[in-house]
Amino acid sequence: MRIAYEIVGSREKSVAIIGSDVKNPKKAAEEIMQRHKAVLSVLQKTDKRQGKFRLHPSRLIKGKRDTEVVHKENGYLIKVDPRKSYFSPREATERQRIVEKVKGDENVLVMFSGVAPFAIAIAKKHPHTKITCVEMNLEAVKYAVKSVHLNRLTNVKNICWDVRKSRNLGIFDRIIMPLPETAIEFIDVAVLHSKKGTIIHLYGFSKGFAELEKKVKEKAKIYNFKYKIVGRQKVLPFSPGVSKNRLDIKVL
Ligand SMILES: C[S@@+](CC[C@H](N)C(=O)[O-])C[C@H]1O[C@@H](n2cnc3c(N)ncnc32)[C@H](O)[C@@H]1O
Repeated sequence: MRIAYEIVGSREKSVAIIGSDVKNPKKAAEEIMQRHKAVLSVLQKTDKRQGKFRLHPSRLIKGKRDTEVVHKENGYLIKVDPRKSYFSPREATERQRIVEKVKGDENVLVMFSGVAPFAIAIAKKHPHTKITCVEMNLEAVKYAVKSVHLNRLTNVKNICWDVRKSRNLGIFDRIIMPLPETAIEFIDVAVLHSKKGTIIHLYGFSKGFAELEKKVKEKAKIYNFKYKIVGRQKVLPFSPGVSKNRLDIKVL
């Protein structure tokens, strides 16, 4: 039986998540738990991600109700309950791409930071960076704070707030905007926290880069800022013909 699933967690305790299209979820769950001894719970997605917190509605198919795990990725730990906050292990490669772009002592803002995987990945590799995270799901922020301690980091600050209402966050060298559905609607907030030379990593779902670049052009006209696109990255496929894409925008 071929089943598509993703695993969040570690060799001690993991959760497997199967798609809503799996016809015999009980059998699938049994097979997964046999294959992976650390999988103690199997969840099935019941719908697309939804709401402001971008959560996947799901139901427990088999195993323990407690789905809190510590995910191990590239030498750092992410504490998370996938039922309470957004987290995607599939984005590990993209996190590393961003880590490689960061220079030693940057001041970084992560908007829409979730359980803070971008921040932790950056902070672990670059101990002299200062990273500010803004996330409005309190459950996600609680996990982010726990992960900061788990990884013994001192350079990550977590703020639980709506980033549009946040004032005095400071001015940053780099701003990460990982909310592909609507990040473009917050580009004015990013520009407000930028200086000449700031790099903004904007994520969006689009058929190609041109669609996303057109939106940036329109916003730049409205908010009167000058910029240059210095990088383009296809991150992951999303739906037929549509990908999650990233534009790297340098503020001029
Ligand atoms: C797609 S998830 C990404 C989470 C995290 N950056 C990651 O890569 O795992 C987007 C997150 O943005 C948060 N969010 C949405 N609107 C927000 C806002 N206006 N201010 C702060 N956080 C917001 C959601 O709660 C969600 O956790």
